[in-house]
Amino acid sequence: MKQKDQSFGLYIHIPYCQKQCHYCDFLTFINRDETIDKYIQYLLKEIKLYRHLDLTVDTIYFGGGTPSYIDSQYIQHILNEINLTFHIQDDCEISIEMNPESVSEEKLQDYLEAGMNRFTMGVQSFDDQVLRMMGRIHRRDTVFEKLQMMDEMEIHNKGIDLMFGNPKQNRAVLLNDIQTALTMNINHLSYYALMIKERTAFHRWVETGQFILLDDETERSMYHLIQDELSAAGFEQYEISNFAKPGYQSRHNLKYWKLQNFLGLGIGAAGNFDLVRTQNVGELEQYYHFIDQDKLPISEKEAMDIEEREKEYIMLHMRLVNGFSLSEFQERFGSDFLNKYESVIQKHLKYKTIEVVDGNLRFTPYGLDVGNQFYLDIL
Ligand SMILES: C[S@@+](CC[C@H](N)C(=O)[O-])C[C@H]1O[C@@H](n2cnc3c(N)ncnc32)[C@H](O)[C@@H]1O
Ligand code: SF4
Repeated sequence: MKQKDQSFGLYIHIPYCQKQCHYCDFLTFINRDETIDKYIQYLLKEIKLYRHLDLTVDTIYFGGGTPSYIDSQYIQHILNEINLTFHIQDDCEISIEMNPESVSEEKLQDYLEAGMNRFTMGVQSFDDQVLRMMGRIHRRDTVFEKLQMMDEMEIHNKGIDLMFGNPKQNRAVLLNDIQTALTMNINHLSYYALMIKERTAFHRWVETGQFILLDDETERSMYHLIQDELSAAGFEQYEISNFAKPGYQSRHNLKYWKLQNFLGLGIGAAGNFDLVRTQNVGELEQYYHFIDQDKLPISEKEAMDIEEREKEYIMLHMRLVNGFSLSEFQERFGSDFLNKYESVIQKHLKYKTIEVVDGNLRFTPYGLDVGNQFYLDIL
């Protein structure tokens, strides 16, 4: 099972933040800034380990943690090393995740000089009370100030992340968040439903009853409000949580959902290479140990057979509003999807959860809400 597209994405993990947010379980360090310099030196060595492969890269994504928290010169060094190691396509998309409080004119200037061409900022809400409850350190005004700074620097390819479903975020707060976001000069919006993760403050507050989570119906109606308002403002939904102005979808994130190839660099980073999924080690000492021996710091390699890969392909693609192309499926897996899963397809066409449009199988808007049964039937 080879892919037509042999260009790679690169994901680079920067595991540092100023403060732990109350809902977040991403791999990140707080108050460990003395390790940043060494971590970056090892990240540069990890990149070098790929030199012999002669790979072409068409998307690069700095995620975290908070990439904008560390000195911007580190980001420049990493991009320099990437340029020496990989063949970078001319139109390569190079993105960075930033938090409002750590963005500065100097850092933005450095990012631009290094070739960064896509910027996302974690905003989460425009309500200061909600932000406090989430454990964020920025306030609503910080976001206005930083987005304006970016406008003045003519940085137009930018987007923000928002979340909904916080217990203190009622429908009026949500509507205000959406409407405020729509006054911003942005072309991409990720709108995530709050997930309660173990070992977070939010999880403890749910356990102790301090937090009452929204019921499903309220959460769904909030999701519909988001979909309706964003679509009316010209944002096209392309994935369950992602919306973009035409032409501004995240090419890098599309690689995850389209099961295309990407390498994960840095601790805890995941990668995908044809039939193999990889996961880097999650601890600094282990990470250093592997690299000191000139070994890729990969702790897990999950080789899948074609059948497993096919199921994964379906699950991930169905997150996309356009689903997947039946002819591409045939080309990639050598089987006719509609024949192979005939009884599942008949059932779900009847219940109007799926549809076939222009040769693509996809969820109907109703199906996007209740998609679980389709997944269970496919599995
Ligand atoms: C890798 S994270 C963090 C990037 C950046 N440090 C920030 O705080 O925005 C990217 C996005 O994931 C979302 N996110 C993190 N934890 C979440 C959770 N528990 N439930 C839903 N979305 C979450 C947030 O919207 C966040 O902006
Ligand atoms: S949400 Fe972002 S800033 Fe907050 S702890 Fe997670 S990675 Fe760090």
